[in-house]
Amino acid sequence: MNIKKLFIYLNLLLFMNIFSLSQLYAHEGATGIIKERMDKFKMSKSLMKKINKGLQNDDFVIIEKSTQTLLNWSKEMSNYFPEGSDTPPSEASSDIWLDPEGFKIAIKNFELASLELIAQSQNKDFDMTVNSFRNLAKTCKGCHQKFRN
Ligand code: HEC
Repeated sequence: MNIKKLFIYLNLLLFMNIFSLSQLYAHEGATGIIKERMDKFKMSKSLMKKINKGLQNDDFVIIEKSTQTLLNWSKEMSNYFPEGSDTPPSEASSDIWLDPEGFKIAIKNFELASLELIAQSQNKDFDMTVNSFRNLAKTCKGCHQKFRN
């Protein structure tokens, strides 16, 4: 691994860790649709880690496959947020239902960023793939800042 790659990798690793710390106990006691979407989000986190590993190993196939699963999730995500499903231990913000358009846009951004990462991983261009991965991670964070308590 060259220095530039190592730097990018450490950078991404740091970023991933920051956004996993707050979620250690989030799952306790969740049931039904809330539990289901928490599981999907947990899976999203593992997929992001997998993609990060893929970058480390120049494994564009893993990156593409993992992102495809994220893309599928982006397409069904809205079904997992029926009105009023923001009861504890859910961390869903009531803003999801107060600002449905904003939530829709946040999901769309996630979908588009996934599509972009798939495209770049198919081109097998490392730098562009890293950039798209960063942008995808930003759409996770962006939605969390607005719509997760
Ligand atoms: C459009 C909004 C949105 C996007 C995009 C999004 N999330 Fe989330 N995420 C949420 C909401 C809302 C919750 C809280 C769900 C709940 O507690 O009911 C959440 C919860 C989580 C959790 C905690 C799950 C748990 O165990 O409680 C993780 C981890 C997570 N998201 C990771 C990610 C990752 C990684 C991405 C991007 C690949 C992502 N999310 C993209 C809205 C989003």
